[in-house]
Amino acid sequence: MNAVRFGIVGLGRLGRRHAENLAWHVPGAKLVAACSPVAQEREWASSCLPELSLHADYETLLADASIDAVWLVTPTSLHARQIIAALRAGKHVFCEKPLSLDLDECDAVLEEHSRHPHLQVMIGFVRRFDASYRDAFDGIAKGAIGRPFMVRSQTCDKNDPDGFFVRFAPTSGGLFLDCSVHDIDLARWLLGNPKPKRVYASGTIAIHEGLRECGDIDNGVGTIEFDDGRLAVLYASRTMAHGHDTQTEVIGTAGALSVGRNPRANRVEIADAHGMRNACTPTFFERFEDAFLREAQAFVALLRDGRPTGLTLEDAREATRIGIAMREAYEKGRAVEL
Ligand SMILES: NC(=O)c1ccc[n+]([C@@H]2O[C@H](COP(=O)([O-])OP(=O)(O)OC[C@H]3O[C@@H](n4cnc5c(N)ncnc54)[C@H](O)[C@@H]3O)[C@@H](O)[C@H]2O)c1
Repeated sequence: MNAVRFGIVGLGRLGRRHAENLAWHVPGAKLVAACSPVAQEREWASSCLPELSLHADYETLLADASIDAVWLVTPTSLHARQIIAALRAGKHVFCEKPLSLDLDECDAVLEEHSRHPHLQVMIGFVRRFDASYRDAFDGIAKGAIGRPFMVRSQTCDKNDPDGFFVRFAPTSGGLFLDCSVHDIDLARWLLGNPKPKRVYASGTIAIHEGLRECGDIDNGVGTIEFDDGRLAVLYASRTMAHGHDTQTEVIGTAGALSVGRNPRANRVEIADAHGMRNACTPTFFERFEDAFLREAQAFVALLRDGRPTGLTLEDAREATRIGIAMREAYEKGRAVEL
């Protein structure tokens, strides 16, 4: 197969990074078009990626028959309908996580996909492409910690006094669907896809009172019980003082392993009158920069060589289903059965 011709949709905080990867760093991919309704974002594309054709409107990008695949980095509230429109236009789809904010919409995507089995759809659970998480997965599969029975995982962002995510909250689905959905997917993947039985969740607003208006929180915890007795305990935060701090521990009958316990930015350690310390990754992007690239390479390998990623649309639906249940458990103040 020739290079896969991509159109990227959404050139915001993360879309620009994906655009640069597809344009410059992914062999077998050719970024040919970009879409954003925001003129400033199209100006960025025309100065940084001048070879692209630019669209203000998604439908005009989809009408370009020379595009093989779309790469959606748009607000989560748009994902499902944009995936369905792309499939109807005959395009493969990469779409950022989560699949949707609504389970019926997830089912509509799966149904539409079943009508186009020759087209691939992948949702960007980027942590599965991180070298350390992959090593943990392989170690667990080889029995390194015996039978894994508990995952403790957190996604914690550095506090942003500008409140980007307060403006982002109405379309993000809230803390559990936006952040914990990564940990939900990790827990399922690392534990071998057990069936969830029940979730508990609670949360608080530690700093960002503006979230109250749309029912969101800036710190939340949740527990998932699986029907074979295994457990996942999750924490998400928007208010860390030190930086982006994503870490995961998997505990088994013969040991435990952890990923990212010290969220170090690099290998420098400073010893001074305050003690021993190191800088921390400032945002999710620095932490997962390599993984975003590997994720793009994996999608291109899937399209060109049929190499499976192990990540299915059903996985994305299940992570959304559990995330929605966690939000409901928080809102209702009681356990939610799945
Ligand atoms: N994998 C990760 O770790 C990770 C991290 C951050 C964000 N995300 C996901 O990426 C997505 C985008 O997040 P972001 O932080 O870049 O948001 P953002 O608000 O910075 O960017 C959204 C982009 O979508 C564009 N857009 C809005 N409406 C559109 C439309 N109708 N058609 C085409 N484009 C449209 C906007 O112009 C903007 O370019 C979200 O789904 C989010 O969950 C994933």
